[in-house]
Amino acid sequence: MIEFYPQIRHVHIGAVILSGSLFALRGAFALAGARWPHAAPVRYLSYTIDTTLLTAALMLVSILPGALFANGWLATKLVLVVVYVVLGVLAMKRGRTRAIRTGCYVAALLVFATIYGIARMHHPLGWLYPWLG
Ligand code: HEM
Repeated sequence: MIEFYPQIRHVHIGAVILSGSLFALRGAFALAGARWPHAAPVRYLSYTIDTTLLTAALMLVSILPGALFANGWLATKLVLVVVYVVLGVLAMKRGRTRAIRTGCYVAALLVFATIYGIARMHHPLGWLYPWLG
């Protein structure tokens, strides 16, 4: 399957960008009081993109050599993906007050940017790696 690595990687990155952009848009409009971010078609679009993202991610993990993950960047990324999902749920529906939802929304976007940096740098320090690594 290694011959499809570039295509699978592109699908993963494309889904990452779509997923992050849709969350940023939905979260901002939901906080402003709009109802469409909670509509079923929008939620299903989001589930579809996230399933594609994860499927491509698992395919990448299975075809790449384990040595590529030896410094722990993938494990760090996975922990932060869980944090991102929890913050996203709090921002979109579970946060009890608007202040909590706003805080979780901003924190989720920051965690997303951190995950992106870790993936790009192949290092747990992410964007800080060029300075601290
Ligand atoms: C919010 C979630 C995620 C974001 C923002 C994200 C971001 C990215 C980005 C930007 C890349 C390209 C890195 C490069 O240029 O080499 C990448 C690659 C990759 N991601 Fe993700 N990812 C996410 C979720 C996941 C998950 C859940 C997994 C594992 C189950 C995963 C596994 C991988 C792997 C194995 C690569 C390939 C690295 C390589 O080609 O060297 N990602 N990710």
